[in-house]
Amino acid sequence: MGENTWLYTLSQQLTINKVELTTIANDFRKEMQNGLEGKASSLKMLPTHLGRPTGSERGAFLAVDFGGTNVRVLAAELAGEGQYTIKHQLSVPLTGGAGTPDYTAHTTNADTLFDFLANQIGQLASPSLKYRLGHTFSFPCRQTSVNHSILLHWTKEIATSGVEGQDVGCLLDKALLRQGVTNVKPVVILNDTVGTLITSAYADNATDIGSICGTGHNTCYLEPLPPLGNKPMIINMESGNFDLLPLTRYDLLLDADSQRPGEQRLEKMVSGRYIGELVRLIAQEVINIPILPYGLKSEDISLFLADTTPDLTKIEHLLAEKFNCATTHLNRANLQTLSRLVVHRSARLAAATYVGVLWHLDMKMQHNHTIAIDGSLYEKMPGYAGHLQDALVEVTGSDAAKIHVRLIKDGSGIGAAIAAAIAAKP
Ligand code: BGC
Repeated sequence: MGENTWLYTLSQQLTINKVELTTIANDFRKEMQNGLEGKASSLKMLPTHLGRPTGSERGAFLAVDFGGTNVRVLAAELAGEGQYTIKHQLSVPLTGGAGTPDYTAHTTNADTLFDFLANQIGQLASPSLKYRLGHTFSFPCRQTSVNHSILLHWTKEIATSGVEGQDVGCLLDKALLRQGVTNVKPVVILNDTVGTLITSAYADNATDIGSICGTGHNTCYLEPLPPLGNKPMIINMESGNFDLLPLTRYDLLLDADSQRPGEQRLEKMVSGRYIGELVRLIAQEVINIPILPYGLKSEDISLFLADTTPDLTKIEHLLAEKFNCATTHLNRANLQTLSRLVVHRSARLAAATYVGVLWHLDMKMQHNHTIAIDGSLYEKMPGYAGHLQDALVEVTGSDAAKIHVRLIKDGSGIGAAIAAAIAAKP
């Protein structure tokens, strides 16, 4: 196929136009409604038993944040009026340390993983003090109470054995005991999207949507009329599983080789865990670059997009050093173009789902809404935040003036500390 032909075809397949954005937003809104009514839906609409913070939560709390890439522990001091400081923190990768197990592989069991988490918590907690802890666990969970949550299934290709179907609150409690960390009491479990919403809402009470555009993708929102209870409640939609989407051949290929074929369709088109693989699958067909499955990471795609050198030398060096692969200028230019298309599509799809939530909450867009987003894609991928904003404007027109998108860095960790303060309130 000639250069122009394949690029044209590819860009046709990967471009989500305004009509498609609007259709996706509408379908998403309907799936939310179906899920809330208990009808079949690709959105799990999971109750979190948490509402919006008042902003006056105060005190010292610990947080542990487990999302699949690193485990982070932090000690936060909440000062009220939306103010907080992080006193101490540590972050350790879950995979790849020499001589340490891969905590995300099926060869690791639940106790080994949770002992590792408990151990990290023990390292940050001072033995002479007592703490309450918020536990961010960023996977689809059926939350039975504020501190009990059953992992429905892993996502993001995590495979640690013996955790699915278990109460992750109990797993952590037992591990803390085994590790002798008896001065730390977990009081709340939450999803990272919920932590992000709560962190933003701590200072800005127009926040009603929290989302992660990072290794994984998901969105939660504050439901004014939740099926459970009579107070507004944050609902974890697990929107990464939304599936009314225009799929390409590459999406189908990626899905077929994933751990859970047919699931997490949106996440597989949007999130950092899969973006590099999509680029690789397309590149392998149209440019002859020998890279193994999942060899391209979202950081590589960031570098591809950020390379403004005339000869694309940054891309050239990366491919030579990491993959021992010699490329022509045309190869690199094509790689950059197709990376741009995949990233552009990701941002636009995420934006369309946010519009779906906004239409569910406020069809006439009479109020201000803050969408709080955390995650490496949104924060670091060149052009991402701009594409997302453009798509919001494209679909909502002048209503976009009511929509404020905020980057909430580390929201998943700090949000756990704030949620612990909410849960610990008498
Ligand atoms: C998980 C969500 C999580 C998201 C972002 C997804 O794979 O299912 O629970 O919020 O990743 O970390």
